[in-house]
Amino acid sequence: MLTGNEIREKFLQYFERHGHTRVRSSPLLPANDPTLLFTNAGMNQFKDVFLGIEKREYGRACSSQKCLRAGGKHNDLDEVGKTARHQTFFEMLGNFSFGDYFKEDAIKFAWDFLVNELKMDSRRLWFTVFEGDDQVGPDEDAERFWAQVGAPRERILRFSGKDNFWQMGETGPCGPCSEIHYYLGDDPQDPTKNRVDLVNGPGDTTMEIWNLVFMQYNRIEIEPGKYKLEPLPKPSVDTGLGLERTAVIMQGVKSNYETDLLKPIIDFAAELAVGK
Ligand code: SER
Repeated sequence: MLTGNEIREKFLQYFERHGHTRVRSSPLLPANDPTLLFTNAGMNQFKDVFLGIEKREYGRACSSQKCLRAGGKHNDLDEVGKTARHQTFFEMLGNFSFGDYFKEDAIKFAWDFLVNELKMDSRRLWFTVFEGDDQVGPDEDAERFWAQVGAPRERILRFSGKDNFWQMGETGPCGPCSEIHYYLGDDPQDPTKNRVDLVNGPGDTTMEIWNLVFMQYNRIEIEPGKYKLEPLPKPSVDTGLGLERTAVIMQGVKSNYETDLLKPIIDFAAELAVGK
């Protein structure tokens, strides 16, 4: 069984071995970004790098980012306490490419890390891609790359922009995304249990674990309430793998709150509550 700390370290070391520079988590309060109240994703601290305004001495980075989603665009507050997988504060593991690699390598890394490093059962994995809209076409490239690494075609699904187009806020870097979902039920072979409708569907049996964003656009406001997508200087990658959700899988438990990252805190509070 891997502890939460071991999963975090394995992730960061894996991406370091593949040429990424390890970067510290940025503070929960973004210092210079009036568009955000709290840090909501690993990419926040790299926003200007994606936009081509800031240069760093590396083209690839990885981090474990402390995130708070209790307001703003990515508000999980209403889900907390109702599902086994939502928290307001959580850690997001991420690998980033600033105009270096793009979709194909992002997909190869994600598959390799989950299946070969963490030894997840690939029969439990599902993959989603952007179905396209009136501005951006369907992501056939991502579908092809998932199939190339070994994903069965019937487990690569298309979804709309609600799930498969990621933007940090109303404005800023954004792009189509591809998510990996994991079936936690008791029989991955049984299609009546490991069901297609559970992906982005009800309950906790299948949960999203990793989001790969193919950063291609800057969303700008052209007049109040009207937005337009402009291409970024270079196509880039921003991913986010939930540390607590990954720990659920690696520790064989059913809820983020049962992992070694959170259970000791709950146990301690319980002891205080009963006055031991
Ligand atoms: N920015 C994306 C997300 O938060 C991937 O890290 O889901």
